[in-house]
Amino acid sequence: MQILVILAHPANRSFNHAIVQAVIAELKQGGHQIAFHDLYAEGFDPILPAAEIPEEAAVPLEIERHCLEIARADGIIIVHPNWWGQPPAILKGWVDRVVRPGVAYRFVDGDQGEGIPIGLLKAKAVCVFNTSNTPPEREARAFGDPLETLWRNCVFGLCGVTTFYRRTFGVVVTSTIEQRRQWLAEAREVVQRYFPKENRA
Ligand SMILES: Cc1cc2nc3c(=O)[nH]c(=O)nc-3n(C[C@H](O)[C@H](O)[C@H](O)COP(=O)(O)O)c2cc1C
Repeated sequence: MQILVILAHPANRSFNHAIVQAVIAELKQGGHQIAFHDLYAEGFDPILPAAEIPEEAAVPLEIERHCLEIARADGIIIVHPNWWGQPPAILKGWVDRVVRPGVAYRFVDGDQGEGIPIGLLKAKAVCVFNTSNTPPEREARAFGDPLETLWRNCVFGLCGVTTFYRRTFGVVVTSTIEQRRQWLAEAREVVQRYFPKENRA
């Protein structure tokens, strides 16, 4: 399968980087084709210029490449920390610029954008791995777990992806090495479950 992997964390030694390494190792072992972007390392520009908003707009080559990759992906994996109940701004900008009309969704003819969009992504599954310092019960009770609504409903549900899995690893700041090892093993298991080994018989 063709799998798109997106990482948004500025520190190379972060647990998020460890997760993405585990994810990529598992995908490679499974014989998958990987398109990988470390948004901070690549200096991705998250600002959507006005000229890029119209569906028919010409977009820079870099964005065109991102659009091509998300459109042809059989699976998508996103890795990022919980920052204020949201993804880091660089990843929000990636959504603004790459999850575009005509690429990831469209409106029916005659609809100016007020109706229910039609999802265009062909990805069979999306996995989102998050890290957090808030215990999950508190994240749900006090804040309504906004990352779940955002990724499952607002982004990937709208774009037509029905198989969605999200896991938040935490509390990171007080975790032991053993706990983090277990989390990395779990991330690999999830990848294997949603993106099984390619049958290369
Ligand atoms: C700008 C910023 C905002 C943060 N906001 C939250 C938050 O709202 N909830 C939370 O649980 N942790 C928050 N954190 C903590 C990060 O989620 C935590 O440091 C990260 O998940 C740990 O993973 P890492 O070792 O890969 O950085 C925030 C951290 C930063 C730098």
